[in-house]
Amino acid sequence: MPNINAAITGIASYVPDYVLTNDELSTMVDTSNEWIMTRTGIKTRHILKGEGKGTSDLGAPAVKKLLEKTNTAPEDVDLLICATVTPDMKFPATANIISHKVGLVNAFSFDINAACSGFLFSLQAANAYIKAGLYKKVVVVGADKMSSIVDYTDRTTCVLFGDGAGAVLLEPTTEDIGIIDADLHTNGAGHVHLHMKAGGSIKPPTHETVDAREHFIYQEGQPVFKAAVSNMGDVSANMMKKHNIAPEDLAWLVPHQANLRIIDATARRMQISPKQVMINIQDYGNTTDGTIPLCLSDYEHTLKKGDNIILSSFGGGFTWGAIYIKWAYDAK
Ligand code: ACO
Repeated sequence: MPNINAAITGIASYVPDYVLTNDELSTMVDTSNEWIMTRTGIKTRHILKGEGKGTSDLGAPAVKKLLEKTNTAPEDVDLLICATVTPDMKFPATANIISHKVGLVNAFSFDINAACSGFLFSLQAANAYIKAGLYKKVVVVGADKMSSIVDYTDRTTCVLFGDGAGAVLLEPTTEDIGIIDADLHTNGAGHVHLHMKAGGSIKPPTHETVDAREHFIYQEGQPVFKAAVSNMGDVSANMMKKHNIAPEDLAWLVPHQANLRIIDATARRMQISPKQVMINIQDYGNTTDGTIPLCLSDYEHTLKKGDNIILSSFGGGFTWGAIYIKWAYDAK
């Protein structure tokens, strides 16, 4: 039997219209454009406004666009995986709601929660299903309405996050392209530094938890920053070493967009030039599960078949990892 690889055969993204600038944030909390730019590299982020709108309202338009772009009939999709930390509801899975909204009548679907590494963990799940020969058309969508869990009175977190989604289609190929390798990690000890205090089974919601603002992101910036720099750098550099990829042979690093300083440190550790790094953090901030597919979507026009690409992430959990891809198609 020939070796089957899973290849990304299409990509699309969606961000909501409303743009939240650093200047507007400066009217809400004690911060400045200068602090945000120098410490994070973020200029603007997009925010989903409107009563009754949730993460599926970001994910569904991205998937709809993806199906149109790739001429895929909704009924032909076998599986949809949604990476998110901001599901529409605690249950059922947002993946189910997205599938319903776009008419994936023959697909089964589920969510993956791995914080900012969710898109990579979901890609690897899709890869396993396809390599095993079980399914032929798998959609992975990374989507987060981070504004629903951001405390806009906390200047240390509210400047960082935005809303957005990106989706990819994966299909089997017998060519030497697609997902070549994945190196994924979790370390639950890191959960103390980045989590949401209430709303789960340890501390179900009460008036007290709401009053204490415990339904928002809690983050200790510095330990998370240090762990992100060392783990993203190491896992990405190790992937290059394992596959004998010289710095000049890497077409792109596609890093999770949490902080420009973390991205720069990762690139330095890999000994690649800033020109080899996809960056759009200035426009969207950290959209958690949306960052990597949003980058691929924005840079899709530059991609060529056979390009060596490393996707790299770090996030709450802690979770981190790198995926090595040989890109499957030339940009149109
Ligand atoms: N505006 C102005 N001043 C601020 C702001 C702000 N928005 N936020 C913090 N400060 C102040 C602090 O109060 C502190 O003041 P002090 O020295 O008087 O105490 C000073 O700036 C420095 O604060 P630090 O926390 O040391 O700032 P740092 O350089 O570490 O940057 C940041 C903070 C941007 C949060 C950084 O630590 C970071 O990027 N951490 C990692 C984020 C990340 O990767 N998260 C993982 C993914 S998220 C997920 O998985 C859901």
